[in-house]
Amino acid sequence: MIEEAARLLGRCSRLVVFTGSGVSAESGLATFRGAGGLWEGYPVEDVATPEAFARDPLLVWRFYAMRREKAKSAQPNPAHLAIARMQALFGSFCVVTQNVDGLHQRAGSRPVLELHGSLWTVRCTGCGASRVDEQVPLPELPPRCPVCGGMERPGVVWFGEALPEAVWREAEKLCQAVDGMVVVGTSGVVWPAAGLVELAAASGAVVVEVNPEPSALAHLARVHIPMKAGQALPALEAALRKKADAGC
Ligand code: APR
Repeated sequence: MIEEAARLLGRCSRLVVFTGSGVSAESGLATFRGAGGLWEGYPVEDVATPEAFARDPLLVWRFYAMRREKAKSAQPNPAHLAIARMQALFGSFCVVTQNVDGLHQRAGSRPVLELHGSLWTVRCTGCGASRVDEQVPLPELPPRCPVCGGMERPGVVWFGEALPEAVWREAEKLCQAVDGMVVVGTSGVVWPAAGLVELAAASGAVVVEVNPEPSALAHLARVHIPMKAGQALPALEAALRKKADAGC
């Protein structure tokens, strides 16, 4: 599968790598669904909706403070690093992620479109001011806006909320114009993010999926690599590099 994927992707010049929580699983960060997933321990309606935050901001902030702590001590794994190295092999390359952990950026990937925001951004519920604050732990929960003193919320997209408009528009435009897409570690059940894979496939892109399990997007993939990202991506990057070095 790796060779076949490299053969197909080796012909591409414009690539998007679309990722979900599975790409960070080998960094020790929990995925959301399936055994041991985050939503098993923390029901979405208690910690990841605007209503939950209005009802109990401290409970929601304790959930995100825990995720910030885990993400801060996590390291980019071989999948993040291989994706960052792969960038140089393509004329145009972008990571579009559903993840909020910042590990693609720490691995060196640029640009990274964060469809669901970031654990490292906080936004004032009063004046709307948004800032990056990577302190772990935060000095106080909920954090206070340095501009107006209002209560700040996590800068992530909750269920029922719109994705950041500018990021979404850019991702849509990109995914309509790519000739290759590697989909890594997503169950493909959350929309509109998952729709970007359909958009790429409908625009004629070759789609390769890396996931130990078949996802809801499997029907769009020309090749499914049933492996963990930490093993598959370094092998795929090496195979692509060999082809690039051989000039084929
Ligand atoms: N390598 C590759 N894939 C893996 C690995 C691994 N080591 N471990 C697990 N996976 C796969 C699982 O098989 C599953 O298909 O990662 C996927 C994780 O799926 P979800 O837990 O549903 O996570 P994700 O698809 O990122 O969720 C999308 O839903 O809850 C919201 O906002 C949240 O961004 C998130 C969105």
